Amino acid sequence: MNPARGGHGGAARARIAGLGWNLPERRLTNRDLETMVDTTDEWITTRTGIRERRIANNGTTAAQLAAPAAREALAEAGLAPSGLDMIIGATLAPTRTFPSTACDLQQELGAARCAAFDVMAACSGFIYASAVADSFIRTGAANNILVVASEIVSPIINWKDRATCVLFGDGAAAAVYTAGDGSSGLLDSILRSDGSFGDFLTGGGVGERETFAEPRLDPGRFFLQMKGNQTFKVAVKSMAEVAEEILARNGFTMDDVDLIVPHQANIRIIQAVGKALGAPEEKVFVNVDRYGNTSAASIPIALYEARQQGRLTPGKLALLVAFGGGLTWGASLIRW
Ligand code: UT7
Repeated sequence: MNPARGGHGGAARARIAGLGWNLPERRLTNRDLETMVDTTDEWITTRTGIRERRIANNGTTAAQLAAPAAREALAEAGLAPSGLDMIIGATLAPTRTFPSTACDLQQELGAARCAAFDVMAACSGFIYASAVADSFIRTGAANNILVVASEIVSPIINWKDRATCVLFGDGAAAAVYTAGDGSSGLLDSILRSDGSFGDFLTGGGVGERETFAEPRLDPGRFFLQMKGNQTFKVAVKSMAEVAEEILARNGFTMDDVDLIVPHQANIRIIQAVGKALGAPEEKVFVNVDRYGNTSAASIPIALYEARQQGRLTPGKLALLVAFGGGLTWGASLIRW
């Protein structure tokens, strides 16, 4: 490891002390979608790898979906909500623009007075929020931080648009970061974005609603819209590049990595990134078949399941890599 870039001289760094998740009960299968839009189970499975996704009940807020995940993560960390210094929310579909999902969750948990705010980095949100948490912990400004990714994407999906409605699902997951001694935890993060590709993936803006100067209402513009094919190409290239960069600057090769945990958008993207990195299939975590693209929640949901399956045990090195609207992307290395 290169101490100048990723090692941080063995100082305190963020380690995951608890994980939690919460997936809505309701499953929407490809067969269900066949009755809603002009699509087939065969097209969705072969083009995306997705078989089913979860959909939250109408009226559930992002904070309500997040709360059980947060409580589970806190319980594992042995921390009461009052022990939190900070809550960082990551969501591309907040229930309302403000207050933040983190503030709503603070109220749900009874974690009064700690700092609470959201980061907006779309599907890269967990990597971004975790890097922010790590920075606060490393400087000593905070000791216990809850990062929670909660995505109820279904209300901003145009259920008549087959190109997008088959892809996304709802879900939440949370991680409690605490100050560790440096032997395990977040070793390094790289965050990238390029706003010039902003219109590749958009949605949910209040700016399309009535304005004072020019009353207008275009609900179509409120829906998630994606230039799928262009996004696909940038996603593969950016994720492979940033993953290679973070390995190189920490003195690791693919052989050192035990598990790649990529954002779960499309099996073909996941496989292409794995191939570009020269990773054998068994080192690449996949659960997109069961949850679809849960945006910022996809990586912590994957971490939760990977650990449950015994694939993340103490000492293992995980490479997280994400990509999303913004465009944003990033990678982090976690020594489990
Ligand atoms: O999480 C944030 C990042 N998101 C992503 O990374 C997603 C990136 N993009 C993708 O995963 C893929 O581009 C998609 C899954 C969205 C689309 O796959 P594609 O192989 O890029 O297909 P395409 O958009 O080029 O469309 C191919 C054909 C089109 O028909 P024509 O024009 O060839 O006749 C589409 O109309 O497939 C058609 N199509 C569908 N057919 C059946 C698009 N969606 C569907 C559908 N069912 N659901």
